[in-house]
Amino acid sequence: MLAVAVLAAGKGTRMKSDLPKVLQPLAGATLVERVLRSCERLSPERRLLIVGHQAERVEQSLARHPDLEFVLQQPQNGTGHAVQQLLEPLAGFQGDLLVLNGDVPLLRPETLEQLLSQHRTSGAAVTLLTARLADPSGYGRVFASADGQVSGIVEHRDCSEPQRANPLINAGIYCFSWPQLAAVLPQLTTDNDQGELYLTDTVAMLRTAMHLEVADADEINGINDRVQLAQCEAVLQQRLREHWMREGVTFTDPASCTVSDGTHFGRDVVVEPQCHFRGDTTIGSGCRIGPGTLIESSVVGENSQVLQSVLRQASVGEGCAVGPFAQLRPGAELAAGCHVGNFVEIKNSRLAEGVKVNHLSYIGDAELGAKVNVGAGTITANYDGVHKHRTVIGAGSKTGANSVLVAPITLGANVTVGAGSTLTKDVPAGALALGRARQLVKENWSGPQG
Ligand code: UD1
Ligand code: MG
Repeated sequence: MLAVAVLAAGKGTRMKSDLPKVLQPLAGATLVERVLRSCERLSPERRLLIVGHQAERVEQSLARHPDLEFVLQQPQNGTGHAVQQLLEPLAGFQGDLLVLNGDVPLLRPETLEQLLSQHRTSGAAVTLLTARLADPSGYGRVFASADGQVSGIVEHRDCSEPQRANPLINAGIYCFSWPQLAAVLPQLTTDNDQGELYLTDTVAMLRTAMHLEVADADEINGINDRVQLAQCEAVLQQRLREHWMREGVTFTDPASCTVSDGTHFGRDVVVEPQCHFRGDTTIGSGCRIGPGTLIESSVVGENSQVLQSVLRQASVGEGCAVGPFAQLRPGAELAAGCHVGNFVEIKNSRLAEGVKVNHLSYIGDAELGAKVNVGAGTITANYDGVHKHRTVIGAGSKTGANSVLVAPITLGANVTVGAGSTLTKDVPAGALALGRARQLVKENWSGPQG
């Protein structure tokens, strides 16, 4: 039997933020969400989350995990006090308790599996994760013998100078035999620099206590301030990019790009410098993205190109060319073979196959049939100050340069709109529509005489 408890009640004073620390985002997911993901593979029987500071906000952020048991810690008097709150909900529980710090988000699931299996094979009362750091400052120091037995943990601020030289640190991840931990939890005291109850003090009370040293110290980075948040983001970004490079994606300048873990790439995608992929995004095989592109919660079909553009909640079909300098806003849907060129904005509009909007246009709340050619500077005037209205343009139609289509308006198939027209009425299929002043030419005009 396994229960997992995540400590997430602290304020995170050192973040200097209005947001609780465990809700800080890292590559698009909150710290606590990442910690929960890291232990998913262990399939624990129970998952408990200790909340306190802005408890409601933390609970709301995790609404999609209905099995989570929230345990309130009020006030927050240290990590030992946090785990004491489990004495009641876990009364009579006979299994192991895996304790995870809510601010240690880079753990690999394999490492937790290894911790649990070592704990169970050795029969220790507690097994904790440790790492050897070149700069261990800030972390609790772990005192252990060569055979892996731990005698105790001393927090950085409670350490003597010689103790501070110990590079072996406590990662804040522990596997306890719960009945043994439950027996010593009430004995904790606040006899330390912070005057708090420390979970780390239970380690010296339990026999035997063992540790497992992680090979990759990046995994146990704890986040207490924004410098560490940025360091973890860098580690995570490197992991994500390396993963995709191994799956067949070329990054010409990997360090300049960021990728969310909801992003998926096909093979032979080329990502040029300064590209950012956010949310749930899918990029089809053979695409060329960037330089200088932001794609959020969007889909790009195979063999498309997106250059210097911004896409948000948009979908682009196969073989399309987008940019440079295009913006596809929510609800922009391009079928295969569309071209959207420079200084074009598209919002909540469907473009059928082979539509071209190549220069300087705004297309909003519109439906464009196959092979429509939108002339330079065409605008759909979709907003009357109160409501948004739709524009429909039939297949094969062409709008001349600088046309304004005042919605609601429907143009049939194969319509031609003369350049500079402002249209306010529907146009039937096959017609030429002109909505502009006739050109007047006065010959031999010498202009006003001075
Ligand atoms: C803790 C460990 C330290 C370890 C480090 C690893 C203790 C006493 N120290 O220190 O040995 O090296 O983690 O990152 O445990 N929390 C609560 N309730 C509280 C206080 C904290 O739920 O009353 C939660 C926080 O939200 C956080 C976690 O516990 O997620 C750790 O708290 P934090 O204050 O960051 O401890 P550290 O000083 O980092
Ligand atoms: Mg911490």
